[in-house]
Amino acid sequence: MIITPRVRGFICLTAHPQGCEQNVVNQINYVKSKGSVEGPKKVLVIGASTGFGLASRITSAFGANAATIGVYFEKPSAEGKPGSPGWYNTAAFEKHAHEAGLYAKSINGDAFSDEIKQKTLDLIKTDLGQVDLVIYSLASPRRVHPKTGVVHNSVLKPIGQTFSNKTVDFHTGNVSEVSITPASEEDIENTVAVMGGEDWAMWMDALKAADLLAPGATTVAYSYIGPGLTEAVYRKGTIGRAKDHLEATAFTITDSLKDLNGKAYVSVNKALVTQASSAIPVIPLYISLLYKVMKAKGIHEGTIEQIQRLFQERLFAGADVPVDEKGRIRIDDWEMREDVQAEVAALWEQATTETLPEIGDLQGYRTDFFNLFGFEVEGVEYGTDVNEVVEVPGLV
Ligand code: NAD
Ligand code: NA
Repeated sequence: MIITPRVRGFICLTAHPQGCEQNVVNQINYVKSKGSVEGPKKVLVIGASTGFGLASRITSAFGANAATIGVYFEKPSAEGKPGSPGWYNTAAFEKHAHEAGLYAKSINGDAFSDEIKQKTLDLIKTDLGQVDLVIYSLASPRRVHPKTGVVHNSVLKPIGQTFSNKTVDFHTGNVSEVSITPASEEDIENTVAVMGGEDWAMWMDALKAADLLAPGATTVAYSYIGPGLTEAVYRKGTIGRAKDHLEATAFTITDSLKDLNGKAYVSVNKALVTQASSAIPVIPLYISLLYKVMKAKGIHEGTIEQIQRLFQERLFAGADVPVDEKGRIRIDDWEMREDVQAEVAALWEQATTETLPEIGDLQGYRTDFFNLFGFEVEGVEYGTDVNEVVEVPGLV
């Protein structure tokens, strides 16, 4: 079939297998170009199919020569409908990993469930014995709690008062004012249940109880802080509460890993276009201004550049891992640079539908968005027939 983008709001319903493969190949080549990382050897990535998790898997495999197991929730093609991007990404990753002689297998299902945890534990036990790095990179709008059966839905809302600010529809370029009413107590609890640290701790407890963590094992989850501009809806909103909980959980997990000399970190990453972040109001406008400023300064990074730097210069640099006053790794350091933030804040004031194409990188935002689904990727022939049915070679 010939596959074209079918966009509905901040989601694209189709994905292109060859475009997704090309994205993965580009990421592999980037990691290889940066030389080897004296890093982990056996890695579990939870949320491995897109975004920061995929970049973590690629960096582990092609930077550190690690065996990887990826857990994710993706759809294969069905009845002439293409599969989801993470399906195609994983198929491509595993194909290239196997060609390079690397162990790579995956499990597709709900990582919040006991069943998928057990399946993963069994696979580690049989194939790898133990893991020395666990990356926790889930981004989900909902979680069925494995103990209570309660369905928690996360929301992106401010806390305490209505938040009004500019936002952009990145498809049309229309800049408008958005007002978001404050979250209820229940909204906050639900968001923390989905995106907080409880499930991360459950994974680590289960791995430890089954003796599947190697001595000195490390685990890393990803967080975000961002500027004052987005604070009310992000860091001081419902999702921020969840990130507070995630960050606090790192300390609990580190305590529980004491006897193994293990350590849990949260890495604060840069704002980037992913499926998760496109859905957050205000953030796309911020990202389009941020991209413009960071590209002009030659310090723009995508997910793979972020994670490669995290591994090579922070986690596995052969020295103590540098952290901020709250114990967090800051790979958002270039985003948060004073000069960058001052310029973004000034541009924010000027941003309108008319000025944005000039002062912001709306085109860069859109291209990144389409790239997530394997579209508008350089070197891919979109006019020709492709087989949408693609096997994931390491799928268990
Ligand atoms: P993403 O949407 O690209 O990736 C999410 C991953 O989670 C995918 O592999 C998906 O398959 C998997 N997943 C979702 N629900 C699942 C489930 N129930 N079971 C199994 N797998 C499931 O998201 P991302 O932007 O890479 O986000 C990953 C982490 O990074 C999140 O914690 C996010 O808050 C954080 N982060 C994102 C940004 C950003 O700007 N995008 C910045 C800093 C930190
Ligand atoms: Na991810």
